Amino acid sequence: MEKSTAKRLFIWGTLISTVIFIALTYDTLRQIPRRTDDAGLTQQVVAGKWVWQKKNCNDCHTILGIGGYYAPDLTKEGKLRPADWLKKFLKDPRAVMPEPRQMPNQHLTDKQIDDLVAFLQWVSNIHTNGWPPQPEVASANEAAASSSELSRGRLLFSSNGCTACHKINGMGGNVGPDLSHVGARRDPQWIAQQISDPASHYPINLMPSFKTLSKTQLDELVQYLSNLK
Ligand code: HEC
Ligand code: HEC
Repeated sequence: MEKSTAKRLFIWGTLISTVIFIALTYDTLRQIPRRTDDAGLTQQVVAGKWVWQKKNCNDCHTILGIGGYYAPDLTKEGKLRPADWLKKFLKDPRAVMPEPRQMPNQHLTDKQIDDLVAFLQWVSNIHTNGWPPQPEVASANEAAASSSELSRGRLLFSSNGCTACHKINGMGGNVGPDLSHVGARRDPQWIAQQISDPASHYPINLMPSFKTLSKTQLDELVQYLSNLK
């Protein structure tokens, strides 16, 4: 390549890249007000953000990836749970979910709660390109026929995607309660009902129903969980 061709290539290449870069930057900036629901950013939302900071909610929770991984991500919480559920939960977590929940009561005033809910709802309207990803719930299950009933239950637990949301002995997700000792607090019949019809226990419910499990699979899963004491 001649020196002058190389020079021209360099200059035009730089120019074109710069123009594309500026156009894309402009396009992104143009979209920000819509993607972040700028119009919905009220005084109350700002007040809620202050409560969030003051109470250090992100010691345990993440929003948009920032915070602790101990408790569920709350980026889309304002869409997952209705406002009155959130208010009741923030007033007293145990009132909504008795024993298995570990969220400490933050002793919030009613105003702080209203502000927080406005904040969580605003955050949930931010366009995040599908982030955080939904826990994947596998539909197929390949329990090994040869293994004992207890380990078949354990296999069913992972092959049905229960681990995406529940921890057992430190392994698994944190969307749902830890099930390491579920057998000590729930009887087998209760557990079976929770798996096939979760809404019967928790009216505002995030757990999918696993009605399609066969009777044998359900029995094996329940036996496994009931033995976790
Ligand atoms: C010490 C850790 C900790 C702190 C601090 C904390 N949380 Fe939580 N939170 C949890 C845990 C753990 C859960 C999961 C449910 C449970 O086990 O109680 C939870 C659940 C929640 C949920 C319900 C999630 C669902 O199931 O839909 C909301 C909403 C919530 N927290 C909001 C907050 C807000 C707002 C603050 C700050 C005022 C806060 N949390 C501070 C640990 C914490
Ligand atoms: C998408 C997340 C998700 C998946 C997948 C899921 N669960 Fe749940 N589960 C939850 C949540 C959240 C709760 C608490 C009630 C609520 O808020 O819906 C719960 C509650 C439970 C409880 C009751 C715990 C208690 O003591 O109150 C049991 C038992 C349970 N799940 C078992 C299972 C089993 C078994 C599977 C797989 C077949 C499963 N879950 C799959 C989210 C999930």
